Amino acid sequence: RTAGPSSLVIFGVTGDLARKKLLPAVYDLANRGLLPPGFSLVGFARRDWSDQQFRDMMAEAVTAHARTPFNDAVWHRLVDGLRFVSGSFDDHEAFRRLAGTVHELDSERGTGNNHAFYLSVPPSAFHSVIHGLSAVGLAEPGADSWRRVVIEKPFGHDLTSARELNTAVNAVFGEESVFRIDHYLGKETVQNILALRFANQMFEPVWNANHVDHVQITMAEDIGLDGRAGYYDGIGAARDVIQNHLLQLLALTAMEEPLTFAPHHLRAEKAKVLGATQAIEPFGHTTARGQYTGGWQGGRRVVGLLDEEGFAPDSRTETYAALTLAVRNRRWAGVPFYVRTGKRLGRRVTEIAVVFKRAPYQPFEPTSTSDLGQNALVIRVQPDEGVTMRFGSKVPGSAMEVRDVTMDFGYGHAFTESSPEAYERLILDVLLGEPSLFPSNAEVELSWQVLDPVLEHWAHHGSPEPYSPGSWGPSAAETMLTRHGRHWRRP
Ligand code: BG6
Repeated sequence: RTAGPSSLVIFGVTGDLARKKLLPAVYDLANRGLLPPGFSLVGFARRDWSDQQFRDMMAEAVTAHARTPFNDAVWHRLVDGLRFVSGSFDDHEAFRRLAGTVHELDSERGTGNNHAFYLSVPPSAFHSVIHGLSAVGLAEPGADSWRRVVIEKPFGHDLTSARELNTAVNAVFGEESVFRIDHYLGKETVQNILALRFANQMFEPVWNANHVDHVQITMAEDIGLDGRAGYYDGIGAARDVIQNHLLQLLALTAMEEPLTFAPHHLRAEKAKVLGATQAIEPFGHTTARGQYTGGWQGGRRVVGLLDEEGFAPDSRTETYAALTLAVRNRRWAGVPFYVRTGKRLGRRVTEIAVVFKRAPYQPFEPTSTSDLGQNALVIRVQPDEGVTMRFGSKVPGSAMEVRDVTMDFGYGHAFTESSPEAYERLILDVLLGEPSLFPSNAEVELSWQVLDPVLEHWAHHGSPEPYSPGSWGPSAAETMLTRHGRHWRRP
């Protein structure tokens, strides 16, 4: 579906996210013919830029990061609707200029008085921007037009601050106009979790505590925090990605089937399962956290977190976090969900592994099955998108020897269609007013409820354990599983 007449205002447009993701995504949407002819884009940031400087920056961003090839005609149509407004987030005059620009574009380009405001700004600036919009009347839609606000995580620092943030946002924008971005939900492979589970008959009957031994959700990155201290110090891995991306992956993996994919049905099921999710105690045994040290990674010398620019030498911010979670309902009683994430790990990979119980009886010679693991279904979120199934199979020969084999589905092989970038899909959904792929406020609060007790424990007990770059994290993460006779997968 093509978006209707509208404009998009991006606050913090000179930042990294806008340059690498948002601006290229807008261009790709235009290139795929999904934006209306009069679509306009207004950048707002502190820099003292002209419209032309903004256009040059966007051209660079598009050349470097867009998915679709450069198309002159598309670019020229888009560039005519690009404007830049310079100002700080608490500058009333700048917001008045913004209102002037937005209304000018309404009449010049026919954006229909429909405006989306994208807050790609630090959380400390949320309040000022929302207030600034409201003070100049930009938050009020006219008759037959809409206003939408898009917020980037972190949605607060804990449950209390998330509630405060939400109250402040809702004081100006009604809940139906608030779009909270969790870009993992924009990924094809993440949406495929529901297709895999509910479009097929063969998985759901075994998708429960009768057959599943445990679930492992991994989001590993090989990059460090170069240049991101301002955002990351004091936040850490659990707040950065477990509170949002990984708990959303858990919700999609563990939830019940929604009645339809309508937003209220989907969100209700996700909220229900998040409400049943709890971090298992004692946290000294069931959680682990770490901080990468300096060393070698991929043939390159890298500095440790505490030597990264902007991090205090005594920072206790974790770059690795692992938790043991329980989903307290009949389907999942007794099945641990292990989630882990870390920077500077062995490789970049995100996957969900559903690991099944062993067959209850095996009529084989004990030695013949020694190589046999447990059956597993692995949803490979990235980078090698697909699904793997692991099962035992007879080794050719006269003996009845069984060994693990895998069967793979890969997006690249099965489909000729290319996947849109996550931000592309999500920005389009904002313009269409389609909220299914955006976590509701209830989900955000329930996710903090899962995490808060662990964060509270970490604040008062111990500190992150050092781990080497290129490894798979601190030793405590290993013991967390071996204590129960289990092991992390080596993706
Ligand atoms: C962001 C986190 O939400 O996700 C980053 O703030 C992380 O720390 C990024 O690097 C990873 O996203 P992706 O899509 O590359 O897995």
